[in-house]
Amino acid sequence: MKVFGAVLTCLVLAVASARGGSPLQQSPARAANTKNPLEGNERARRAGAKLYARECASCHGPDGSGSGNAPSLNRDDVHQATPGALFWVLRNGSLRRGMPSFGHLPDTQRWQIIVFLRGGRDAETGSPGSR
Ligand code: HEC
Repeated sequence: MKVFGAVLTCLVLAVASARGGSPLQQSPARAANTKNPLEGNERARRAGAKLYARECASCHGPDGSGSGNAPSLNRDDVHQATPGALFWVLRNGSLRRGMPSFGHLPDTQRWQIIVFLRGGRDAETGSPGSR
């Protein structure tokens, strides 16, 4: 019976951690307060697009639509995530589930990627509403 209890505890823990929510949902509330020093900066957005192509496109797709277990980033909750929450996700990654940490990139480059992620795409496609 003891063994059964231990197995059950393990199962419950495993399910709980697997259900822990997406990386963005897991980012701590205090991370949301960090401001992006490059918010709205067009040159930063372009630099971010290049960095995205180099660092992220292999998993999240060149157009951000995701592939394999890497989720699409073309989602409202990603566009509306605070820059600080995205910064937290990029620094910490989600190692167990295959999202690497980008803590090795300089802060500036991570902020550039975030300017791009949070709505820079329109300008790329030239669709209405482009900035
Ligand atoms: C090796 C593949 C891989 C690379 C490279 C990668 N990611 Fe991810 N990413 C993932 C996976 C897998 C997840 C899902 C992790 C999870 O669910 O815990 C993820 C999750 C995310 C999330 C969280 C989405 C959510 O729903 O909370 C963001 C944001 C993100 N990635 C952005 C990026 C950016 C920006 C880059 C480039 C700097 C990047 N990723 C590079 C695999 C990758």
